[in-house]
Amino acid sequence: MANLVYIATSIDGYIATKDNGLDWLNNIPVIEDNDYGFADFLNRIDCILMGTNTFEKVLSFSKWPYFKKVFVMSNSLKEIPENISDKAEIVSGNINEIIHNLKRLGYQNLYVDGGKVIQSFLQLNLIDELIITRVPILLGDGIPLFGHISEPIIFSKVKTEIYSNGLVTNHYIK
Ligand SMILES: NC(=O)c1ccc[n+]([C@@H]2O[C@H](COP(=O)([O-])OP(=O)(O)OC[C@H]3O[C@@H](n4cnc5c(N)ncnc54)[C@H](OP(=O)(O)O)[C@@H]3O)[C@@H](O)[C@H]2O)c1
Repeated sequence: MANLVYIATSIDGYIATKDNGLDWLNNIPVIEDNDYGFADFLNRIDCILMGTNTFEKVLSFSKWPYFKKVFVMSNSLKEIPENISDKAEIVSGNINEIIHNLKRLGYQNLYVDGGKVIQSFLQLNLIDELIITRVPILLGDGIPLFGHISEPIIFSKVKTEIYSNGLVTNHYIK
């Protein structure tokens, strides 16, 4: 039972440009047959819990990328588009209650995604693993991965992977 983060950031800690741009991620030189452990990671999780802004970005992709159920944390969205109505669901309210309800439904390992949502989980000390891939680019501004927390949270680093294209993945657990 764990809440996990798998995310890419710039050197200066941004996960997207201010206008939700991800081109800086798409322009990374490809390493053949290497997905930075993402498929293995997806096999470990039972569902994805993401914020409204991340969901809206994913909707703009040419095809729906997930084979695991997505729960969209949102207090503003009214409905999920018809074409993915069996793949995604809206949840709202208290984070602990959302987690409790998902676990009751059998979703034990949650992939928590989206800057603000990750920050809300961290504020409540509810993240168990952080897998962060740092991309060798300074964006200067953008949507940050981290924000204020009231108490330090100590993680142990279990692994670092260094890729030939300059990406570095650090895997931390609590
Ligand atoms: N680099 C990467 O690997 C990576 C990964 C994921 C996302 N991204 C990018 O990051 C951007 C989105 O991140 P973001 O920080 O703007 O937003 P986000 O976390 O995806 O979504 C935030 C929104 O979720 C809703 N929400 C509901 N309950 C919440 C809670 N308890 N805590 C926080 N939010 C809650 C709120 O909208 P309502 O008003 O609807 O309630 C809030 O404004 C996108 O551009 C996305 O593409 C990048």
